[in-house]
Amino acid sequence: MQRWHSLVYSRVLWLMFFLTLIGVLLVLMLIVKGEPELVSPPANAPYKNAALPVDLRVEDLLSRMTLKEKIGQMALIEKNSVKDNEDIATYGLGGLLSGSGAKPADTSPEDWHSMVSEYYDAARATRLSIPLLYGSDAIHGHGHVLGATVFPHAIGLGATGDEVLMEAVGRATAKEVAATGINWNYAPNLDLPRDIRWGRVYEAFGDDSQLVTRLGAAYTRGLLSGEQPMVASLKHFVGLGDMAWNSSTNKNFKIDQGATTGGEAQLRSTYLPPYKAAIAAGAQSVMVGLNTWDGTKIAANKYLITDVLKGELGFKGFVVSDWYGVYEIPGGDFVATVKAVNAGVDMVMLPFAYEAFVRDLTWAVRLGLVPEARIDDAVSRILRVKFAEGLFDREPATFAPEVIGSKEHRALAREAVAKSLVVLKNEGNVLPINPTVRSIRVAGSAADNVGMQSGAWTVEWQGIDGSWLPQSTSILAGIKARAGSGVAVEYDGAGNFKNSAQKAALGIAVVGETPYAEGWGDREYPILSDADLAAIARLKESSERVVVVIVSGRPLLVTGELPKWDALVAAWLPGSEGAGVADVLFGDKKFTGRLPLPWPAYAEQLPVTREGEGSDGSTMLFPRGFGL
Ligand code: BGC
Repeated sequence: MQRWHSLVYSRVLWLMFFLTLIGVLLVLMLIVKGEPELVSPPANAPYKNAALPVDLRVEDLLSRMTLKEKIGQMALIEKNSVKDNEDIATYGLGGLLSGSGAKPADTSPEDWHSMVSEYYDAARATRLSIPLLYGSDAIHGHGHVLGATVFPHAIGLGATGDEVLMEAVGRATAKEVAATGINWNYAPNLDLPRDIRWGRVYEAFGDDSQLVTRLGAAYTRGLLSGEQPMVASLKHFVGLGDMAWNSSTNKNFKIDQGATTGGEAQLRSTYLPPYKAAIAAGAQSVMVGLNTWDGTKIAANKYLITDVLKGELGFKGFVVSDWYGVYEIPGGDFVATVKAVNAGVDMVMLPFAYEAFVRDLTWAVRLGLVPEARIDDAVSRILRVKFAEGLFDREPATFAPEVIGSKEHRALAREAVAKSLVVLKNEGNVLPINPTVRSIRVAGSAADNVGMQSGAWTVEWQGIDGSWLPQSTSILAGIKARAGSGVAVEYDGAGNFKNSAQKAALGIAVVGETPYAEGWGDREYPILSDADLAAIARLKESSERVVVVIVSGRPLLVTGELPKWDALVAAWLPGSEGAGVADVLFGDKKFTGRLPLPWPAYAEQLPVTREGEGSDGSTMLFPRGFGL
């Protein structure tokens, strides 16, 4: 009996030993092998069926996704940070972008298309085959692509006040963007700048909420009206343009990425209306700004993102953070990720370290710091846009070189330039140029400089100073072409003319700012350069009358100089079609542009109030809406 018992006992021990051993081996195998092999959904999975309603497809796809796949969809990566194209599939990335300046080797339209296509293919080669979003800042046409039409920057479009034109510009931009296969544009910009010291004034249509509401919605309608998929991104939510000088959290900047001062009252009366209108026009994503609100970065502000934008405004699309914006939230990357996702950010423009993001967010969910329901909501929003745009059901747009920089689009851009010009002074009706004028001298740094004309976000983030943009027309070239053989046109950038004692009938000084983007353009005193002022002075000596054309991203402080000039024209940043300037100077088209924001007289007035007065109560050099 005793022996029998001990025999059974030892057998049980052995059995337990073997079972433990098998268990340990299985665990080891799993660790070595990673997650268990996931099966691909069948061809008849509901989410693959284009005939089913979008919400049903989203629900079905979401139910098949692992946590890792869901988190991958929430990651937006700068294309130069993708270590290996296989990572797009490995991490199931939701989107890639070309941060301004991140381009294929020779930035030709064809290269853009084939680069983007490779990324798309990599994304579709996953078990769930979820298509990728590819984003670019086509904020004044598809400016990063060589040969594309470069439209005036938004501030010039704002001066036109023309909704029909705006819709057409949006449509043309979408066509050129889609022609390179790109399906997401970080536009329109709905910022409301009231301080010309800010380096992003020109990205906005103006400082007037009603104007921006009208034009932002029109641009969005145009952008989304094409046949190809296109996602718009309204930016920068919210209160950008109302930051205090010296409040930037970026040590290199003064006002960009600073603290918004407007508060709740301005939020409702001023900041939100443009968003409401553009959302109603169909905008599918909203980008949150890098500014702070009540001391907190917007990306961490649940009230603004979840309660106001998604709740009150009923926004059903997805919210994307701006460049590295989530990690600007204090507390370290892990805490910042938790705060941003819980605040309502759906897709994170990391834009670099995706491995770390996936790891952090996975742990945050496992530890219960981010509810899985929040992840499901974020991913559903992203997927809904991808389904609604038809990205699951069709091939990405094919390469359409004939669309890029087409004659039709260039003509539209030229029209936009002509309509954007604002005459601020016109003594003795020197403009339009009298047909009796037979000699013209042209000077100034911006006369023969398409790089200055186009400003930043043109091939490079900070733009490129100089005449280099292929297939473009400088303002000088436009003047020469229009003047024709009957008028002698002399040009010297610095205004040094031979026979200067013999005066020309007219001098045209085309002066202005060299390109800048974002906080790198923050300037305490936005004024003309000494070189340009000297060129104007020389031109004045050698010409009977002088017209000054300012090419700039914002009003410049010119009060002291203005009395010396016969005429002043604000040309903003007209882009590739400089001939539009000559169209108006010579009277082929009428001057119709109006100031989309007040033109201050001196620096002490800054920032200008929302009512359009100096902060010292004084009046502007030219009020908003002014234009002769
Ligand atoms: C800008 C955004 C832009 C993003 C992607 C950021 O630096 O603030 O306006 O869309 O970069 O290029």
